[in-house]
Amino acid sequence: MAPLFEGKKCSIFTNLFFLLFSISMLVVAYGNNNNNVKKPTLFIFGDSTFDVGTNNFLKSIAKANILYNGIDFLHSIPTGRFSNGYNTADQIARQFGYMESPPPFLVLAKHPYSFKRNILGGANFASAGSGILRETGKKQWGEVTFLEEQVQQFKFVREKINEKLGEEKACRFVSNALFLISIGSNDLFDFARNETSIRNPQQYLASLQATYFIHIKNIYLLGARKFGILSIPPIGCCPAVTSQNKGNCLKPLNDLATAFYSATNTLLQQLSSELLGFKYSLGNTFLMTKTLLDTPSTFGLKETKSACCGIGYLNGQGPCNKTAGANLCFDRKDHLFWDWFHPSERASQLAAQTLVHGKSKDFVTPINLSQLARA
Ligand SMILES: *[C@@H]1O[C@H](CO)[C@@H](O)[C@H](O)[C@H]1NC(C)=O
Ligand SMILES: *[C@@H]1O[C@H](CO)[C@@H](O)[C@H](O)[C@H]1NC(C)=O
Ligand SMILES: *[C@@H]1O[C@H](CO)[C@@H](O)[C@H](O)[C@H]1NC(C)=O
Repeated sequence: MAPLFEGKKCSIFTNLFFLLFSISMLVVAYGNNNNNVKKPTLFIFGDSTFDVGTNNFLKSIAKANILYNGIDFLHSIPTGRFSNGYNTADQIARQFGYMESPPPFLVLAKHPYSFKRNILGGANFASAGSGILRETGKKQWGEVTFLEEQVQQFKFVREKINEKLGEEKACRFVSNALFLISIGSNDLFDFARNETSIRNPQQYLASLQATYFIHIKNIYLLGARKFGILSIPPIGCCPAVTSQNKGNCLKPLNDLATAFYSATNTLLQQLSSELLGFKYSLGNTFLMTKTLLDTPSTFGLKETKSACCGIGYLNGQGPCNKTAGANLCFDRKDHLFWDWFHPSERASQLAAQTLVHGKSKDFVTPINLSQLARA
């Protein structure tokens, strides 16, 4: 894919802008005592952990616009979020002072007349079932928007921002925005499902990272500078997996997830040394979830094995679908897992608090998301 804008052009401008910005902040600082940052504009990429309704428009069976999803959402409306309420994308947005995630790109794109104006409020491209690789999720879930296509959609958005603001302002706007990405779990699930795949996890992880590198770099070349990346949680411990494994976590899947974290850490260090102005936060969602699994009571959680909503053993043998006869727990705030694959609203909130304000580099490194937004 041909980059729209040279990264360099944007960077030089960013530095100049930064100088002017610093001066103006000094001025503002004297007249204004609170240290609230302006809310960063959010552009959100990824899978079902971040999807706020993209898949409602796709020919996919990975959909959450059915009850009991959204039961704790405004008016108990299922919106396409795989959660009882706000999902992790929303919860991060809320930590920054928004009500929820920006809307799906596909919703904004339905209103061509207001598109250019609305897009300045951010957009969410995330699609349930999708992965870093093109083919990920297709066999299992049908039509999904894979990462490369999400980046193409952002490229379109970038052109519209340019038309709206003009090149210089657009560059500044995009370089100040926060780009959140949460993806990779479905790639690992597909790898684990594929019996004919060459059993070489190292090789598979390497191809994932090489592809991830290309897509992150392409977002950078479109002017993005601030990347908030979420790693892969202990997917071997989600009810969909444990219900098939006598209630126990599946170590090989968790090992893949930890290996993915280390590789992503290296990848991001490499990107920031290669690309001028590239800044990032890497969230260790593996360790965060592990902490909730190990010491739930510290966080007011009681149930870490069974999903709140679902079917069969541990509610882990089918999706949260009321019409299909899914169970619904009473104490939704006590549950780590909402459904067979996804965290509850409460667990998402705990993760978002740590990602945005966390002080431990074990959880978010090298800086947290609020520092990234200020940077
Ligand atoms: C399974 O793995 C093989 C070998 O790596 C690959 O060629 C094939 O496309 C994979 N199948 C699916 C359904 O992903
Ligand atoms: C929910 O279950 C009903 C009844 O089995 C089925 O027709 C529908 O396709 C399911 N919806 C999803 C999104 O799984
Ligand atoms: C993370 O964010 C908060 C502000 O929300 C800040 O006070 C804190 O120092 C940051 N963490 C680290 C490790 O610097």
